This record gives sequence, C-alpha cells and structure tokens, in this order.
Amino acid sequence: MTTKTILVTGAAGNVAGRVVRTLTERGLPVRAMVRASEKVAFPSTVEVAKADFEDAASLAAALHGVGAAYLLSSGPQLTAYEQRFIDEAKRAGVAHVVKHSVQGAEYEASIIPRWHRASEKHLEASGLAWTVLRPASFASNALGWAGSVKASGVVYGALGDAALPVIDPDDIATVAALVLSAPAAHAGKAYTLTGPVALTTAQQVGQLGEALTRGLAYVNVPDEAARDAMRSSGMDAAWVDAMVDLIKTLRGLGTVAPTDTFSSLTGKAPRAFAEWARLNVASFR
Ligand SMILES: NC(=O)c1ccc[n+]([C@@H]2O[C@H](COP(=O)([O-])OP(=O)(O)OC[C@H]3O[C@@H](n4cnc5c(N)ncnc54)[C@H](OP(=O)(O)O)[C@@H]3O)[C@@H](O)[C@H]2O)c1
Repeated sequence: MTTKTILVTGAAGNVAGRVVRTLTERGLPVRAMVRASEKVAFPSTVEVAKADFEDAASLAAALHGVGAAYLLSSGPQLTAYEQRFIDEAKRAGVAHVVKHSVQGAEYEASIIPRWHRASEKHLEASGLAWTVLRPASFASNALGWAGSVKASGVVYGALGDAALPVIDPDDIATVAALVLSAPAAHAGKAYTLTGPVALTTAQQVGQLGEALTRGLAYVNVPDEAARDAMRSSGMDAAWVDAMVDLIKTLRGLGTVAPTDTFSSLTGKAPRAFAEWARLNVASFR
C-alpha cells in the first residue's frame, strides 16, 4: 500500500477525473494535475496542482513529493508531453508511473497507437517502475451522439461493421486505482482492458435505443464526411488525420476481441454497454 501522494494528470478529463475520485474513495492521498483549476470540483481532500505538459517547470512542481503517478494526456503532442513528464518524474524521484495508453498500442498499426507506444517505450527505458493500461474504445464516446439523438434519433458514424469491445471509463478508473494502491505488484505489466463483448456501432445504437425506449437509426458516413465533422468541431488537422487513420484501421480489423483482464484483476465482470446506456439515458433526452 502506497502512502505517498499519487499525482493524476489529465484530471479535468473523462477518465482521470474518475481516477481521482476512485483513489479518494479508497482514502489515498491524491494530487490532481489540471490546466485550469476552475474546471474541477473534487472532494476537499484532493490537492489540485496547476500544470501544463508544455511547461517542464510546472510539471516539476506538480511532481514534488509524489510516490506514483497516473499519466494521461491527449492529442497530437501526446508523445512529447508524456516523454517530458516521464523525464521530470525521474528527476523528482517518483517510484512508479502508470501510463494510460490504448488497446493495440503494441501493434503500432495506426497513428494514435504509435503516439502511445512511443511514450510507453520511453517509460520502459526510463528506469522508473511502470505499468501500462491499454483500454479499448470508451463506451462514453457515445455521448458525442447526444445532439443528433435528441434532434432526430439518428447516430452518424464511420466505423461500418467494425466491432469493438467498448469499456466503461468507470472500469478503467477501478483498475487504475487498484494498480496505484499497490503498484509494485503490477510493475512491468501491460493490461489490455475491455468491456465484455465486441459491438458494432449499429449494435450500440440499438442498445441505446432500448434504454431510451425509442427507435434510433445508425447512418454510416464516408471518411471525408467524418473528417469534415471533426474539423468543424474544432479539432486540429493532425488529430483529425490520426482519427481517420484509426477509423480505417479498425474497419480493416473487423472485430476486436475482448480480454478477461478486467475480471482477472478485479474479480468482477466489466460493465456492459447496455448498462452504461441505462445509466446515462438522461444525457440523450
Ligand atoms: N476515447 C477513446 O475511445 C479512447 C480509447 C482508448 C484510449 N484513449 C486515450 O485516452 C486518452 C483520452 O482520455 P479522456 O477521454 O479522459 O480525455 P479527456 O477527457 O479529453 O481529458 C484529457 C485531459 O488532458 C488534459 N490536457 C491536454 N493537454 C494538456 C496539457 N498541455 N497540459 C496539461 N493537461 C493537458 C486536458 O486538460 P483540459 O481539461 O485543460 O483541456 C484534459 O483534462 C487519450 O490518451 C486517448 O488516446 C481513448
């Protein structure tokens, strides 16, 4: 059991915010790293550190006195951000870094997995103790459908018949907290975390419709339409290229198999997408 401060990066975001709360529920000392402290409302026991992956000095300050860290970042600068963080963690005397990666990073088959794998390799070579979590596609990506579901009952996507073993971010946070609570037991391990079953987007849309007791339609769009939609949402060009590359790669794979890693580690079944949908119906009404 670690008693030194655990630093969680990306803490204003979807997964790492849950990691902060789960660690706090376990009574562990947590420091949440954010860019803008007004974006978060954590329990009072959580220390909030303002820092930016662009700024090594701010990382060094956030890492002061830290025993273990959960490293999550995002976007086209991911590799540079995380390599800088790992170097600063080493300098600060951190014992263990748990890196949040992506399912399939080890195959380096597309741009985003390659960003993650480059960061994983840097961590593996750093001399720090490490653990890598490689989660499948998130169930919560479906929240991006809320606008068109509310407006017209239609979901647009580009994954075609690709079936992915989507995982609830709560389940990622459960494993993150388990690893960070006793990191030495998980040193040198890479865990691929998935939900219970691979689903196509159309199957997910069907299950969401059942939760809403409303018929929904799935419309598959060409990659160029997906690209335009991402561009007009404000994503930068390098990120959009990487997302389109990932979509093409996943379509090429067809079905991505689930793993039993979540159950092996926790003794529980991972949450199914249908249950995630039932718990989140309010976001689609
Ligand atoms: N979505 C999926 O299906 C999926 C599946 C597997 C793996 N992943 C991986 O999961 C990660 C995304 O997780 P998520 O959904 O939790 O992301 P998220 O909600 O977008 O959170 C990312 C966090 O990173 C922070 N961040 C970005 N740039 C930063 C900087 N320069 N300095 C400090 N903080 C910075 C953001 O801070 P601000 O809040 O200030 O912007 C944000 O809070 C990515 O690494 C992605 O590749 C995603």
